[in-house]
Amino acid sequence: MLQYLEDSAFSEWARGESLWGWPFALTIHALGTAIVIGFIFIMGLRLLGFFRTIPLTSLSRLFPVVWVAVVLQVCSGFTLWMTKPSKYITDGAFLIKFSLVCIGVVVTWFYFNTLRRESPEWEAKGVISRRGYSFVAATITLWAAVLVAGRLTAYLGQLYAQ
Ligand code: HEM
Repeated sequence: MLQYLEDSAFSEWARGESLWGWPFALTIHALGTAIVIGFIFIMGLRLLGFFRTIPLTSLSRLFPVVWVAVVLQVCSGFTLWMTKPSKYITDGAFLIKFSLVCIGVVVTWFYFNTLRRESPEWEAKGVISRRGYSFVAATITLWAAVLVAGRLTAYLGQLYAQ
């Protein structure tokens, strides 16, 4: 199955010399990384008391942008993965990063639901619940870990060993 994927025209295209293969997918991946992590950090910092002119109730308007960026990450990440599926599938560093992405998506889903439900009350009382702070800590830590793990995948595993 992995050999079939690796021999496919899509895999060849992604590995090829063209600017539209690996370099294009990596550029989209970098853009998606900036949006997901940037927005998660902005929301987290707002809950921690920075940028007080942004109403807490308006943060939910940023959610669709984050989800669109996550979809971009899945598409561009899949394209990068298709260049050598049989190597990625056994690479510990990649598997750690991929697991962190899955956990990050689930935790972010619950975070956004809580924010949408509880932000009017937080806004009125001027106090964020303990649950809110826990989500900020968890999402900032998880997404920062995804970024570091993604960048280190090329160095920690055996993907590019000579
Ligand atoms: C929001 C989610 C994600 C973030 C923040 C993220 C972040 C990153 C980062 C920072 C890199 C390093 C880029 C570079 O070397 O310049 C990377 C590489 C990569 N990512 Fe992601 N990623 C995400 C999701 C995914 C998903 C869902 C997949 C698989 C379907 C994936 C597959 C890959 C692959 C294959 C590489 C190349 C690794 C290498 O050969 O060095 N990523 N990612």
